[in-house]
Amino acid sequence: MRTRTPLNDGWLFRPDFDDALVAPDAAEDGFARVRLPHTNLELPFNNFDETASAFVSCYRRHVHLDAAALAGSRVRLCFEGVMAAATVFCNGRLAGEHLGGYTGFDVELTGLVTAGDNVVVVAVDSTERPDIPPFGGVIDYLTYGGIYREVQLEILPEAFIADLCVRSAPTGRGRSLSLVLTVDNAPRTAADLVAEVALTGPDGDVASHRFPVRLGEDPSPSFEAGFEAPGVQLWDLDSPVLYTVVTMLLADGEPVDVHSFRTGFRDAAFTPDGFVLNGRPLKLRGLNRHQSYPYVGYAMPRRAQRADAEILKGELGVNIVRTSHYPQSRHFLDACDELGLLVFEELPGWQHIGDAGWQANALADVEAMIRRDRHRPSVVLWGVRINESADDDAFYAASNALAHRIDPTRQTGGVRNFENSHLLEDVYTYNDFAHRGDNEPLKTKAAVTSHAAPYLVTEHNGHMFPTKKFDTEERRTEHALRHLRVLEQAYATPGVAGAIGWSMTDYNTHAEFGSGDRVCYHGVLDAFRLPKDAAAAYASQADDGVYLAVSSRMNPGELDEAKIGRVYVFTNCEAVRLSLGGEVIGTHLPDRTRFGHLPHPPVVIDDFIGDRLVREQGLSPAAAAGVKRLLAAVVRYGDKALPLRHQADGGLTMLRHGLSRDDVVALYNRYVSGWGTPSREYTFEGLVGGEVVCSTTLGPSHSAALVVEPDVTSLVEDETYDVCRIVVRHVDTLGHDLPYSTEAVTVEVDGAASLIGPAVLPLLGGSTAFWIRSDGVGPISISVGSQRLGRHRLTLQSTGNG
Ligand code: GAL
Repeated sequence: MRTRTPLNDGWLFRPDFDDALVAPDAAEDGFARVRLPHTNLELPFNNFDETASAFVSCYRRHVHLDAAALAGSRVRLCFEGVMAAATVFCNGRLAGEHLGGYTGFDVELTGLVTAGDNVVVVAVDSTERPDIPPFGGVIDYLTYGGIYREVQLEILPEAFIADLCVRSAPTGRGRSLSLVLTVDNAPRTAADLVAEVALTGPDGDVASHRFPVRLGEDPSPSFEAGFEAPGVQLWDLDSPVLYTVVTMLLADGEPVDVHSFRTGFRDAAFTPDGFVLNGRPLKLRGLNRHQSYPYVGYAMPRRAQRADAEILKGELGVNIVRTSHYPQSRHFLDACDELGLLVFEELPGWQHIGDAGWQANALADVEAMIRRDRHRPSVVLWGVRINESADDDAFYAASNALAHRIDPTRQTGGVRNFENSHLLEDVYTYNDFAHRGDNEPLKTKAAVTSHAAPYLVTEHNGHMFPTKKFDTEERRTEHALRHLRVLEQAYATPGVAGAIGWSMTDYNTHAEFGSGDRVCYHGVLDAFRLPKDAAAAYASQADDGVYLAVSSRMNPGELDEAKIGRVYVFTNCEAVRLSLGGEVIGTHLPDRTRFGHLPHPPVVIDDFIGDRLVREQGLSPAAAAGVKRLLAAVVRYGDKALPLRHQADGGLTMLRHGLSRDDVVALYNRYVSGWGTPSREYTFEGLVGGEVVCSTTLGPSHSAALVVEPDVTSLVEDETYDVCRIVVRHVDTLGHDLPYSTEAVTVEVDGAASLIGPAVLPLLGGSTAFWIRSDGVGPISISVGSQRLGRHRLTLQSTGNG
């Protein structure tokens, strides 16, 4: 029977390589002990030389094998991700090589290992080699370096299950499954075996099927079979039902190998009219994800990978993610399957297409991606064109044919950024950066392609409007609105399957891109996964739960000319009631005029006066209405540039009601704003069915405290170390983050964990976060704080998985 053992601990690492290090008896004193996932170099948050991690390094590990386990067995190492090229040696001899940092690979050690101690050495080339995608041109992201995903050791029988491909089709009563079993029988052992495939779901065993497997001279024979699975439940966004497929090879009734994976059953199709899931039209609302994190780049284990899917689905309410621009961690994709989050997964690349050898490597990436992930119900589209590359019909005919051959059940897309591109894919996937704030949010499909094919917007915004968490309120609001306008347009246009925004988070990049500090500030979240205002554009569209975020802090001095003109409430509530100093001044409905196609249009408020002119100033209702019109026009155009119609309307109001210019200026200063006017406390209440379901109060406030919140209180050492994010926020007396807090905090971590990144952290836009990494089992003490705001002490626990 096969065994699969995580091999993530006990590695030795040094940041250089030479051939002498391959020898089993090479000196080990120049090595540091590391655990996987590992980055070859920890980087600062920003302002670094991105070529610093481009070097060849050496990983080394002793692997002890029992004679009993070895007898009649095959041994292989399974690497999930090594950036960018790996050469693997075992006991001084070459065992295998892999080019490409985003796809896993297996290296067979059979014949190279012996009972007892064995030495595995991996030379890891993290330079941007032009023969390996995505390299050869420029790329707007960093690729980092190292063995940055997990590794397993497998002991296998001589003939083992290499793959089981399951396809399903609906029947009246459930699904009919067709199977292709492939056996790796490199030793060409003759045997008469039986395969038993069993499908198990949430309610237990569903169906199973046995068929003969006759092995002979073919080193890689395939066997086809099929069976009916009655009553299976469909996987969907709200009910992501998963099934397990377990395959056993039996010799004389005794199991000799077992292989299993999870899957789900759903019918997904991009059509010219839009996307359809299980027969139901679904507008896709998504974000692009890069798999990078501050300091450690790509090297993050399970919990952090899963957390991104939880944030996308749970906090941002999106229904699709694009794994831009490469296949991502199985942990992230597992969470997408479990949570009900659709995935558009694509091959590694960025604009550049290399020579024939490079293209062969790209096709190998396509194959590895699809073979790894073709049973995932979350994956609904394969990206088989290098992101934003030029047309190359021969190359893309090959990538499409390959994808369709290995997975005829899913459609392909190919992300381009120009019009009238040749369409070799099933879906015309297009990065639409048309929106500049004051124009059409998206191009029409007809302007982009004459093909009648399905159409999906795969990027928007991004570099068109980079926005930092600590930018001005006006810019942060416009960032949110630009995302919202694109979503509105996508919802409004029947032939657009949806829109996937650029991007989920800020990310490190090369010098050619970003803000000069090696960061692209394109995220709706910052690099620590903390929300910018644009996160509200997405979060407010979710139907689950209650969401309300106000675009302004209601501090007039933050805004140009000290005017709070218009405030957007991003909410899924039915109405918003506004009060000032405890008195209701108006109830406002979602803006269905400008955002009528969104599931939840924002509530736009530009009346902060209500009936106070009547109540407080004794104006007649008609006079109050006229004055409000005039004040609103002054806010909009400024008093020097009032359009004639407003001048006339305002003049008439003043004349009719005996108001002088000074009277109007005084009313403006009191009710609208003016330089030096005190800010006031406003409360925004979200209403559903006439009831208040949430509320937030904004206005004058000052520093109250640091809030320190760990994502979890217990870390679990399992396949490898665990991580936990700890969020630090400087909040005001009303409970909101202080967006311009520059407080610096210091962090100390003791016990069974260590800090990732620096121990002195400035808050960025009022908050930041750090991760700790478990170093074993036991209590973890964390102290976070500043001189001014005091220290917080937390105790977390790191446990083993048993
Ligand atoms: C696109 C590209 C992305 C990112 C984005 C920034 O052209 O595909 O990787 O660079 O622009 O807006």
